[in-house]
Amino acid sequence: MCGIVGYIGDKEALPILIDGLKKLEYRGYDSAGIAIIGKDLTVVKTQGRISDLEKKLSTEEIQGTIGIGHTRWATHGIPNDINAHPHFSESKNIVVVHNGIIENYIEIKKMLIKEGKVFRSETDTEVIPYLIEEFYEGDLLKAVNKATDLLEGSYAIAVMSKNERDRFIVVRKDSPLVLGVGDHENFVASDIPALLQYTKDIIILENGDIADIHKDSYTIYDRDLKPIRRNIQRIDWKIEDAQKGGFKHFMLKEIFEEPNVIKEAMRGRIKGDSIEIPELKLTKEELSSINQVYFVACGTAYHAGLVGRYLVEKYLKIPSTAEVASEFRYRDPVIDKHTLLFVVSQSGETADTLAALRLGKAKGAKTIGIVNVVGSSVSREVDNVIYIHAGPEIAVASTKAYVAQVEVIALIVLYMAKILGCLETEEEKHLAKEFNALYDRANNIIQRCGEIADFVSTTKNIEETFYIGRNLDFALSLEGALKLKEISYIHAEGYPAGELKHGPLALITPNSLVIAINTYKPLREKTLSNIKEVKARGGKVLAIAEEGNSNIEEVADRVFYVPKTRDDLAPIVNIIPLQLIAYYMAETRGLDIDKPRNLAKSVTVE
Ligand code: AGP
Repeated sequence: MCGIVGYIGDKEALPILIDGLKKLEYRGYDSAGIAIIGKDLTVVKTQGRISDLEKKLSTEEIQGTIGIGHTRWATHGIPNDINAHPHFSESKNIVVVHNGIIENYIEIKKMLIKEGKVFRSETDTEVIPYLIEEFYEGDLLKAVNKATDLLEGSYAIAVMSKNERDRFIVVRKDSPLVLGVGDHENFVASDIPALLQYTKDIIILENGDIADIHKDSYTIYDRDLKPIRRNIQRIDWKIEDAQKGGFKHFMLKEIFEEPNVIKEAMRGRIKGDSIEIPELKLTKEELSSINQVYFVACGTAYHAGLVGRYLVEKYLKIPSTAEVASEFRYRDPVIDKHTLLFVVSQSGETADTLAALRLGKAKGAKTIGIVNVVGSSVSREVDNVIYIHAGPEIAVASTKAYVAQVEVIALIVLYMAKILGCLETEEEKHLAKEFNALYDRANNIIQRCGEIADFVSTTKNIEETFYIGRNLDFALSLEGALKLKEISYIHAEGYPAGELKHGPLALITPNSLVIAINTYKPLREKTLSNIKEVKARGGKVLAIAEEGNSNIEEVADRVFYVPKTRDDLAPIVNIIPLQLIAYYMAETRGLDIDKPRNLAKSVTVE
């Protein structure tokens, strides 16, 4: 997820671009840049934050009343000056900023290199200005339209040409883009906060829209270059609220982003009926030599790794375990070149996880990083990094990153099974269909968040909570308990449902709240009897169950039904009600949900 801005009018573009980018820094902040057409077409860009860009600009006098800008969240190509946007065409007459992922950039790049083109960066984006230039015959709108017709993936782009100083062109497909309509000036941005200081008249572009933007006019076209109308909306949000997309907290915004995150995490990895991980370097021979698999991580990432160990044992038939990195690093694990170490980390900078990675490597393990932040320490030190493309996660409590971590781990394990010849084509086809259905299933749950809020309103005096489940539902129960603890400060314990009678049942009283995750189909009846054990002691039970499993209503106090999902993929969406329980519990307590006490987003010290 990146932030793009554009301006054309009578004012100096530079301050407007910088101000807009600062309002979008929550969308990405590993590198930034601007392009302005004045006497010439000038580009200034840098690794680092907007403030680093401002330092670089302070030595330059850049004047001009048309410009575009970008703040980056890297997906392809580590954060550095060359990979920062804007990107030039080969002649440097055309310049582009882009938010999204071009899935077929490798094929396009190979085609253009064959024609003798020389690229400067490692990014997917750079193929866009090169391609536009291929089609440019004096009309930027037509060239952009032809070039973007060849692109696959998600993109919101702004394009300028030094030969056409009176306009810029924007296109929207899957990545957000809005126009700001001013008085003898017009704006474009990835999100509304960048524009509100200048205009409240906003047009939300839709998929396929291509817009030709001048100082005193704009025209929006469909992909056949037929003019279309889009309504102007008057947006009266405060800027701070706009950065949260109108949500009260970043955490809730990030939960609501999860359907799109699910889509982005599988982009280029589910192709028709096929599961692919193009970035995976392990060969069949190397995979066949693996005789144990570890997942090492901390906190939420560890809970994602727990799901992974179940899937590895089921699909790869290799012994697997998930370990908390702070324990793993101080044990003496029996590891050698036949060990595969998955290192899971949203930030890629967690000290204990890095130490565990280094220990595993020192002992000869093969290492794969499951990481969100491109160019982070974990991503640079593992043998192979697979990014989760969840975009920046601002709230300290991890939500969308967990969803993407579990999804990408599942994709990798299934792809490994395919390489090893233990995934039937029919089963792969069914799995691909199931992955594609996750977007709607996640949306179904999120749209019913009111049911969760309503349930939470009945639990005012709860001071202790148990989360119970079996198998994959147990892995979910640990993550659900962590979410509640870290943002509502209510003590919560995740427990294997079968373990209750071996001690914790002594704690169950009429004041206890038990969240029973009962979606793992093979053990549904077993967990139901554990719920009855709790009810017999007067505990209050909210059950998370699959739609159709109605007999649970006779036992639990409340039931939240989730859409039917294949067990192996169910944690990707069944975590959502647990995240919402934690959110609404904390919200009713008026707590600082995005920045909980005592916690940091990335624990870079021991
Ligand atoms: C999750 O809600 C917590 N903020 C924390 O447990 C986090 O998951 C853990 O610190 C690991 O962080 P990482 O994924 O960046 O390595």
